[in-house]
Amino acid sequence: MVDIAERFVDLPAGIKPFLAAPPADVIRWTVGEPGFDTPQSIVEAAIESLRAGNTKYTRSEGSLELCEKSANRLHQRYKIPATTENIIITPGAKQALLYTFMVCCEPGDEVILLAPAWPSYDIQCRMLELNPIHVPVNKNNFHPNLEAIKSAITEKTKMLVINSPNNPTGAVYTPEEITKLLDIAKKHDLWLISDEIYARLNWTEWDHLSPASLEGGAERTIVITGWSKSFAMTGWRIGLVSGPSTVMQAMGKLQANACSHIPSFLMDAALAALEPKIDDAVAEFKRSYITRRQILMDGIDAIEGLSMPEPEGAFYGFVDITKTGMDSTTFATKALTDAKVQMIPGGLLDGGEGFVRISYACDENTLIEGLDRIAKWLSSI
Ligand SMILES: Cc1ncc(COP(=O)(O)O)c(C=O)c1O
Repeated sequence: MVDIAERFVDLPAGIKPFLAAPPADVIRWTVGEPGFDTPQSIVEAAIESLRAGNTKYTRSEGSLELCEKSANRLHQRYKIPATTENIIITPGAKQALLYTFMVCCEPGDEVILLAPAWPSYDIQCRMLELNPIHVPVNKNNFHPNLEAIKSAITEKTKMLVINSPNNPTGAVYTPEEITKLLDIAKKHDLWLISDEIYARLNWTEWDHLSPASLEGGAERTIVITGWSKSFAMTGWRIGLVSGPSTVMQAMGKLQANACSHIPSFLMDAALAALEPKIDDAVAEFKRSYITRRQILMDGIDAIEGLSMPEPEGAFYGFVDITKTGMDSTTFATKALTDAKVQMIPGGLLDGGEGFVRISYACDENTLIEGLDRIAKWLSSI
């Protein structure tokens, strides 16, 4: 029997075991996707594009029009000095992340992740024989511990990965923190991945800040974002990466030889999502998230034994369950079987023990009913 590559044998499963579709009577607080349909005009644009015959091979990096519009948007909204030439449209942000690790790191390099981190960073690093180094964030607010990051840097450190607004914690880093994180990357000559996929879902008084927009940032920052979370387009698999030209040229070769490009007709759908009229739909999504976030905060506050730092962005609450005396896997397993509510145990992520992740992207009634079930279950034990 021929073996598979050793590094794939014991790859961690991440949060997958708790993402399985539960029975119909279970409330699902696990899936990290907007609880809305894709706006209709985007759907129509894809269908029209297919009818118009956009079914052939095309520009590998993405159509010129899409790359140009995407660059303008990054520039206008976030002051990221993106150009048409340093954008690649990828099959989801996930693939853009994998490309970035592949292009910027050598096997054996250390990659600093701020723990608890979205699990795919760790798993992608392992697939490429990179060493993920998990540096815990501050437990009271999930913001980065700058001193701990500095202490974790060795001569093998090649990259620092940041994700603000954050999955799983909901933290949004302050402009001062982003500036200091970039300073660390500059001082130690590191690549900085800035995963900004939740940039539009920010509930703080400070605006989203990309390190690529700061002085000396663009030359070492690789910005990752995509259409999934802002436009309710998770299943479409459309992401974007923008970075320094050396990185983007290598990545162009990588994408050309890995998948050629995203489906040609989806480029027109991606363009339709950038039309100003879609801003109304996005504003409506955001209003709903703000209401749901408040329901979650009030609900958790009212349940004895649970507490949660204020979720500042994305659509996740990271709830402290330590006072219940259960570890997070026991808590989530019992919540599933006894209260019929599905959530992610933080203990599946490095640095996340003592917490469970709740996605409040589900509708309001589901949220209220789930909180009620958890309250009743906990008071009965
Ligand atoms: C932090 C983070 N980055 C990237 C992704 C991947 O997004 P995409 O759907 O574009 O692959 C996700 C999806 O859950 C995410 O939470």
